[in-house]
This record gives sequence, structure tokens and C-alpha cells, in this order.
Amino acid sequence: MLVNSKQMLLEAKEKKYAIPQFNINNLEWTKTILEKCNEMNLPVILGVSEGAIKYMGGCNTVVGMVKGLIKDLNIQIPVCLHVDHGQSFELCKKAIDAGFTSVMIDASKYPLDENFRITKEVVDYAHEKNVTVEAEVGHIGGTEDNITSNANNATLEDCLEISKTGIDSLAPALGSVHGLYKGKPNLDFKTMKEINDNLEIPLVLHGGTGIPNDDIKKAIECGISKININTELQIAWHNDVVKFVKEFESVYDPRKVIGSGKNAMLKAIEDKNILFFRL
Ligand code: 13P
Repeated sequence: MLVNSKQMLLEAKEKKYAIPQFNINNLEWTKTILEKCNEMNLPVILGVSEGAIKYMGGCNTVVGMVKGLIKDLNIQIPVCLHVDHGQSFELCKKAIDAGFTSVMIDASKYPLDENFRITKEVVDYAHEKNVTVEAEVGHIGGTEDNITSNANNATLEDCLEISKTGIDSLAPALGSVHGLYKGKPNLDFKTMKEINDNLEIPLVLHGGTGIPNDDIKKAIECGISKININTELQIAWHNDVVKFVKEFESVYDPRKVIGSGKNAMLKAIEDKNILFFRL
């Protein structure tokens, strides 16, 4: 069933585990994630970046595909369909109107007062339609959708301020980056805990790829209730597809070529679920 992220994140915060956000890129990824999470009977957030929305044709196509898969595959778990790093009110509105159940408005490239203004505009529109909103403060660096940016850590004061917009969850930049890490990740657990102790809403950790398991566990203990994973599934899928193409060069059926990465994805999804839900 398609739901917003409110209930699942509050429950995760209370019981001290984290809901995974797996980013989707196409039909095969969406189907694989839904099947695995349904088999494990665990809720899931499907994250869709602006680039992925464009790639798949637009917001209506994504919503239609996800709704169709939930129905045809008889998916019984709570599924949240979430815009990842929405860059503008207009994009968030388009997604909400099409049937997304959750949006992230990422106005973190602006000064805090402008971030606040844009975030509040999205919250007011989204909440009217029972759609949840995630915001970002500080700025999470790294590379996503081929866009690279520098990191800038969040402060408790910024988090307290942006929470006044009425957002449902918050991604404070605390040292994680999108894509692959150069060197060891250096998460600011002290500030993470401090923010969690002072804020009612669930916290989100972006850039989940490449963070060692012990740091993930520590982040969950410090109050992280949602962890985003994108690159790690892409790499798992890619490694197996490359092997397949090398071995079966003459196979041209796209279902076989794309599908050859499925088992690696299933394994990665299972591993993340076990780690995040502390199973
Ligand atoms: P990774 O690609 O590093 O896993 O990050 C995903 C993410 O944070 C999406 O917003």
C-alpha cells in the first residue's frame, strides 16, 4: 500500500532502527526492491531523484509504474514514494499532484532564510494533500545525478530553525557524502545526537553508500531513522552486468542483460535491511 513516511519514520525513531530509502532508476529496480522488501515483510521508501524522474518520463509515469507494481505483484508492505532532493517548489508540486506520497525539498544551496521560505512553501502545499516533507540543512557534498558539490555541516541552531517550517523529517549534513567516499567517512556523531536530543522529528542520513556497518549502527543509536542508499545498489548491479556481458557477449535480449544484475541487487537490499532494521 502506498503511504507517506510519517508513521514508518516515527515508529523507526521510537524503536531505534532505520527505514531504508532505496533510489530507483527504472522498472527493473523498482520491481526488485519491492519484491525483496515484501518477501522480508519490511516497509520501504522508494527515492526518486529529479534526474531519475526525467529519465523515466516524468512524475506521472513513476507514480503509475509504482502503483501498477504494487497491485500486480500483490505488495502488502507500506511503500512510500518519495522525491529525492527536489530542487524547487514547482518540482515538488508536480510530484505531489501526480501522486507521490512524500517529497524532499532540498533548498540547502541557499542561505538559511531562503531555505526556510522555500521549505515552508512546500510544507504548506504538501500537508494539505497528506504528503510528508523532508528538508536539508548544511549541505551534503559528493556526487549525485552527475552533480558534484562541496559539503558544509549543519548546526543545531539551523536544525531547530528549519524545523519550525513544520517538516516531517530532516537531513542535517554531518559529514556523509553522496557517491563514493574519498578516504574514510567522518560522521559528526556528537552533533547528530545533540540534534536528535533536541528535535522531535526523525533524522535522515544521506550518502549511505560506503559507510562502515559500525558507523551505520552508531548513527542509528544517535537517532538516525532513515538511511538513503543509491550508489551501492548501482555498483552491485553493474559488477554483475559487466560479468554477464563479458561471458555472454552475443546475448542481446535486454531483459537478460538488465536482469543479470538482479541477484546482486537482491543481496545488497537484504544486507541493508538486516543492518538498518537491526534484524
Ligand atoms: P549514495 O549514493 O551515497 O548511497 O547516497 C544516496 C542518497 O543519499 C540519496 O539521496
